[in-house]
Amino acid sequence: MFSRVARPTASLVRSLSTSSQNNAKVAVLGASGGIGQPLSLLLKNSPLVSELSLFDIAHTPGVAADLSHIETRAHVKGYIGADQLGDALKGCEVVVIPAGVPRKPGMTRDDLFNTNATIVATLVDGCARHCPQAMICIISNPVNSTIPITSEVMKKHGVYNPNKIFGVTTLDIVRANTFVAELKGLDPARVNVPVVGGHAGITIIPLISQCTPKVEFPADQLSALTGRIQEAGTEVVKAKAGAGSATLSMAYAGARFTFSLLDAMNGKEGVVECSFVRSEETECKYFSTPLLLGKNGIEKNLGLGKLSAFEEKLVADAMTELKGSIKKGEDFVANMK
Ligand SMILES: NC(=O)c1ccc[n+]([C@@H]2O[C@H](COP(=O)([O-])OP(=O)(O)OC[C@H]3O[C@@H](n4cnc5c(N)ncnc54)[C@H](O)[C@@H]3O)[C@@H](O)[C@H]2O)c1
Repeated sequence: MFSRVARPTASLVRSLSTSSQNNAKVAVLGASGGIGQPLSLLLKNSPLVSELSLFDIAHTPGVAADLSHIETRAHVKGYIGADQLGDALKGCEVVVIPAGVPRKPGMTRDDLFNTNATIVATLVDGCARHCPQAMICIISNPVNSTIPITSEVMKKHGVYNPNKIFGVTTLDIVRANTFVAELKGLDPARVNVPVVGGHAGITIIPLISQCTPKVEFPADQLSALTGRIQEAGTEVVKAKAGAGSATLSMAYAGARFTFSLLDAMNGKEGVVECSFVRSEETECKYFSTPLLLGKNGIEKNLGLGKLSAFEEKLVADAMTELKGSIKKGEDFVANMK
């Protein structure tokens, strides 16, 4: 179950004594939440993390005390409330942000904008002031808007580095891998489906034609599978019936992305993850594609690759919504006092 999360960790255990960069300080902002707690648990379990800084507006003393008893080396400290944000962030190399409200049945991710835009802008303002060089990984929805918000806040402070700002879309890839594996009777740990575009409804674009190993589906099954991947978050929201959205699978996905980033920062070669980032690959300013990660974040955008006619149409259909969500995020920061 933990193979994807554990795999990079295990390989790095062997190199621990030689690389001082395995001493990463990682912060989780929103650490007491449904995602924040299991994500912090997975990070605490990794030898890649030496310091784990847990920030929230509630409950972090308890979460930190609880996690600090686990017999792994990461030193855990909890910080609570706006006054302690600066201390939580000082010296951090990676900041993961799952702070904000989740969806309830009937809501779109964009319905979260009014609450989460302010939360993300405030937390990123803290990053700009206290750890401007850190990698920033945003989980808070709507990701299609919170990433432009992150960029604009960093620009306002004159510390913008597009190679270090990531919208975490990994859960879409995790879901696509799982669903394809189920349909084809494969081991999900060996399936890799790139998912491009954004992180909401029709902007989530699985590239099944680029799946490894190669898989084929009849047109009706391909269409149903694509729709299921696009609406998988809603599947969880409905099943939780008012108790929130995906938390455990998101914690897994957030940990997978963070470990990939830490691996790449430690000099591991060939680390590729999809993420929603500043991009020149399409007419959209921000777009998720597979990225080669390196010591300084994005080393190379690997682009869309060859698309099927079906996938080309999905990309075309996503553009209007994606551009609107991006503009909404940019306008929010432009109008901020
Ligand atoms: N990117 C993805 O694939 C993905 C998947 C699932 C959920 N999400 C999003 O992740 C976010 C969190 O979801 P959740 O289920 O953990 O929600 P949750 O309500 O369980 O937890 C959110 C946490 O954020 C904290 N918080 C609120 N305001 C804060 C602030 N100003 N500073 C610090 N912490 C603050 C809350 O106290 C709470 O502990 C939501 O926006 C959700 O839509 C993203």
